[in-house]
Amino acid sequence: MTNLQENTTSHQIRIIKEYPADSVAVPLAMRAWMRSNHAGETGAVWIYRGALLALWSPKIRRMAKNHIQSEKRHLVVMDQLVPVESRCRLLMIWKILGAGLGFLSTLFGYKTFCSTISAVESFVEEHYNEQIEFLNDHEGYSDLQLVLKRCCAEEVHHRNDAESGLSGQRGILDKIWVSLVENGSVAAVSIAKII
Ligand SMILES: [Fe+2]
Ligand SMILES: [Fe+2]
Repeated sequence: MTNLQENTTSHQIRIIKEYPADSVAVPLAMRAWMRSNHAGETGAVWIYRGALLALWSPKIRRMAKNHIQSEKRHLVVMDQLVPVESRCRLLMIWKILGAGLGFLSTLFGYKTFCSTISAVESFVEEHYNEQIEFLNDHEGYSDLQLVLKRCCAEEVHHRNDAESGLSGQRGILDKIWVSLVENGSVAAVSIAKII
C-alpha cells in the first residue's frame, strides 16, 4: 500500500486524491510496468516542455500547454505510486530525449508535431490498456486499475486532439518518422522496465 510521502505538497495531495492514487496497492508483478509508467510520464512532460520552445507556432504551443497540464498530474500520481528506490535510473536520459523529440518535431511544422503526438499517445494508450487488462485477471487491485484507466483516458484525449490536426494522406517521410517514434517508444519502455 502506498501511503502519502512526507514531502508531498498540498497541491500534489489534491491531485493524488483526485485520481485517486492514495492508499493504492501495487502488485509485485506490476513493478516493471509501473517503473516504465513513471519513466514514460517523465518523458511526456519533457516532450511538451521541448514543444513549448516553438515560439513561432501558437498552435503547437497551445496544444503543448494544454497537454502538459495532465502529463504533470500523471507524473505526480506516478511519483506517489512508484517509490524513489524503484524508479528508473535513466530518468535524466528520458528527459533529454523527450525534450529533444518534442522540440525536433516542431521544426517540421504543426502537422509533424501532431503526427508525433498521435504516435506517442497511441503507444501510451496501448501500454496502459495492457496493464488494465492484466489487472482484470488479478483481484484486489481495482483501485490501481481505476487510476490507470483515468490516466489512459487522458492520453486518448491527447491522441484525439493531435489527430484532429492531421488531414489528408500521409507522405512517406511522415510514415518513416512515425515508425521511428513508435519503435523508439517500444525500446524506451523495454529499457525502463529493466533499469
Ligand atoms: Fe501521461
Ligand atoms: Fe499524454
